Amino acid sequence: MFNFRHLQPELPLVLDDAVSADSAVGQLTVGIVTPDVWGYDIERAAMRALGVRSATTLEGEDVVGMCSDGFFDCLIVELQNPLTIMFCNDIKSDPYTNLPVIVLVDEVTQALAPEAYGLGVDNVMTIPVNPEALAMRALRLCERHREQRALENPMGVLAAVSRTVEKHDPYTAGHIERLRAISGHVARSVGLQRAEVEAVRIAGLLHDIGKIAVPGDILRKPGALDAHEWTLIKQHPAHGADIVATLRQGDVIAPMVRSHHEHWNGKGYPDGLGDTDIPVGGRIIAVVDAFDAMTTDRPYRNALTLEEARRRLSEGAGTQFDRNIVTALLDLSPRVLEKRWEDALSL
Ligand SMILES: [Fe+2]
Repeated sequence: MFNFRHLQPELPLVLDDAVSADSAVGQLTVGIVTPDVWGYDIERAAMRALGVRSATTLEGEDVVGMCSDGFFDCLIVELQNPLTIMFCNDIKSDPYTNLPVIVLVDEVTQALAPEAYGLGVDNVMTIPVNPEALAMRALRLCERHREQRALENPMGVLAAVSRTVEKHDPYTAGHIERLRAISGHVARSVGLQRAEVEAVRIAGLLHDIGKIAVPGDILRKPGALDAHEWTLIKQHPAHGADIVATLRQGDVIAPMVRSHHEHWNGKGYPDGLGDTDIPVGGRIIAVVDAFDAMTTDRPYRNALTLEEARRRLSEGAGTQFDRNIVTALLDLSPRVLEKRWEDALSL
C-alpha cells in the first residue's frame, strides 16, 4: 500500500498516528470527510482510544482514489449538501471497495437521510454525535469490512501469489506495486472510467502472475534463453489470463493480462495483436512495464536515467507502443515518474 502523504502531498489530509493496540485484523483507518479538516478532535480521540487511526480530509477525487486503494476501512462523511450525496453515491457504487460509510447530518441536511440510506450508506447519525458511539460504530464497521474483504476477495490471494512470483527475480522488487500505481495514473489520464481504471490497476499488479507456470531457473537464468525456454516464457501472459479470469472482474482483466506483451505493430506475443485490437489496459501495462524495467537496476546494467528512458519510450512509440499511452506516461508528474514514493511502499 502506498503512502498517500508521498503520492498526494497536495491533498489536505490530516492523519492521526494512532497505532492499533490489539486489533485482530491489523491497523484500521477511518477517513472523516469534512469541510473542516482540523475538526473532529474529540471524535478522533475516541477512535484513538479504541486503537483506530483516523484521517480528516476534504471530499473529492483523491478521496475516491484512496478508497479504491484500500487506504480506509470506513468513511465518515459530513453531509453538507446534495453534492455530498453524489460523493456518497460514488463511494457506495464502487463494487470493488464496498466501503462502509457513516453519514453525519445536522438539522438542515437530515432531510437527505432517506436518500443516503437509499444509496446504501451503513449509518446516518445526527450532529452533535456522541463521540464514543460514533467511534464504536466506526470500529465495528471497519472490522466487518476487513473480515469480509479477507473472506470474499480472491484478489488478496492472487496478489500474494504475484508477489511470490516476483521474488524469483530480486531485481524486480516492488515492480508489480509500481505497475499497479503508475498504470492507474496513466489509465486515469487517458480518460478511462473509474471501473476500468481499477481493472487496469489490478491487471498491473497481476500482469506477470502467469510466470508461476515457468520454471524458476528459467526466470533467474542470467544468460540468453534457448528456443525452448523462450517458448515457455512467452506462455506466461496466457497462463496469467487463465488465472485472473477467476476473479469477479476477470472478463475485463484477463484480456489485459494476456495482451501485456503485444506490440502496437503486431509483432508481440502471444496472439500477435496490433493497434487498437490490443485492449487498452494491455497497451498501458506494456508501456509502464517497459518504463519500470528501464528505470530500475538490472543484473546486466544500471537503471537508465529518466531522460534516457523517455528517449527510448518515445523511440518505440508507434511501433512497439501505443503513441498516446507513451505520451500519457511521459506527461505524468515527475513525482510519479521518479518514484519518489518508493520508500513508502510498505505502509
Ligand atoms: Fe510479462
